[in-house]
Amino acid sequence: MTSLRMGPRAPIKGTVEVPGDKSLSHRAILLGALADGPSRITGFLDGRDCHATVGIMRDMGVAIDFPQATEARIDGVGLHGLREPEGVLYADNSGTTMRLLAGLLAGQAFTSVVSGTRQLCRRPMDRVLKPLAAMGAHIHGRAGDRYAPLTFVPAPARLRGIQYDLPVASAQVKSCVLLAGLYAGTETTVVEPGPTRDHTECMLRAMGAAVESDGPRIHLSSPEGLSPLSMHVPGDASSAAFLIVAACLAADSALTLRNVGCNPTRIGIVEALRSMGADIAMVNARLEGGEAVADIEIQAGPLRARGFGGEIIVRMIDELPLLALACTQAEGVSVIRDARELRIKESDRIEDTVTQLRRLGADLEGTPDGFVIRGPTPLRGAEVSSAGDHRLAMMLAVAGLLTPEDLVVRDARVTDDSFPGFAETLCALGAEAVWEERDD
Ligand code: S3P
Repeated sequence: MTSLRMGPRAPIKGTVEVPGDKSLSHRAILLGALADGPSRITGFLDGRDCHATVGIMRDMGVAIDFPQATEARIDGVGLHGLREPEGVLYADNSGTTMRLLAGLLAGQAFTSVVSGTRQLCRRPMDRVLKPLAAMGAHIHGRAGDRYAPLTFVPAPARLRGIQYDLPVASAQVKSCVLLAGLYAGTETTVVEPGPTRDHTECMLRAMGAAVESDGPRIHLSSPEGLSPLSMHVPGDASSAAFLIVAACLAADSALTLRNVGCNPTRIGIVEALRSMGADIAMVNARLEGGEAVADIEIQAGPLRARGFGGEIIVRMIDELPLLALACTQAEGVSVIRDARELRIKESDRIEDTVTQLRRLGADLEGTPDGFVIRGPTPLRGAEVSSAGDHRLAMMLAVAGLLTPEDLVVRDARVTDDSFPGFAETLCALGAEAVWEERDD
């Protein structure tokens, strides 16, 4: 197993770009495959999760080439041009792949089976199977249709559009229903309890589909076809967040991140850190291919504790372990609530964040839907584990920038799932981060 050893505390200084957005890269492959003609995507995330999506679309007959690691050329086959796969479709460890793909497969006239890692096969899939069944899809899953592997059997009739009121604010579920809606005979409406990332809607619009947003309601009429895409994927706000928090916390840091996707549904973490007193400026704001993009400048400084709950939680759902780390360094008691969803991500991100940060001396506890964190607490070096979760691995590596001793993150190669080159980027910014092969 590969560990990441972080040297003693260090500031980070310099200017870098982070790899392309994971959510956009998945969607560009899925939707580009359904377009009427060739699409070209630059800034594609060359990470493990997105390659799972690529592999699956290839298995259904879509030609996808990479003239460079971050440039994808997709030969779209049209809405009805996918081919029946000969084997099991493998989503690897990617929840986004499996849940979005479920919507797409529900509308196909062939049988298919999707599976993934053990970790993925323990994550709930009933949240997508329920609305798809209401649309008339025939899907079976393990343990009473709760978990993958999932089997899709062609429905006897065309899918019907439904109005679906999302029981939890989830962009994956919303996107799944909209993808199935591409194949429905009548209009599909999704109603969100709070604003989730809207990349699927934006991309479908850019491809000519009739998608209308009216407050929390999103309407889609199934299109005749989709126009090809030509887009540059901006830097992933969730990957940028690790460096933003690192620069806020590590004394004397000064960092500029260029070309970061700043879609308002994704940058709750910047608002949260600013409300704690962080010095973060967003400059050179612009729109690229319908997505907000900016450069972000961060200087280290003291933070104050705060309470977080409500709609901002969804806009920083993947950043909450990182926010918990920031709160260990803030003056006072911070409370994070309304984040029950963290328990069913790649790991139980409440339980695992608390266990690992306590090993470093942090003073925090988990609640059913979040954390209570007392700070500021000096952290000490220790051996910690990623729990097989890329976002925990990176959060713990950032903690290593604050400890006077070395900190070792076990099972840290998972950083490649979403941020290939994470450790190398930290080194380019002046930190000490070394990969170690170990027998554990
Ligand atoms: C994602 C949505 C979020 C997020 C995940 C990516 C997406 O999941 O946690 O990393 O690309 O739609 P939920 O929809 O389950 O909140």
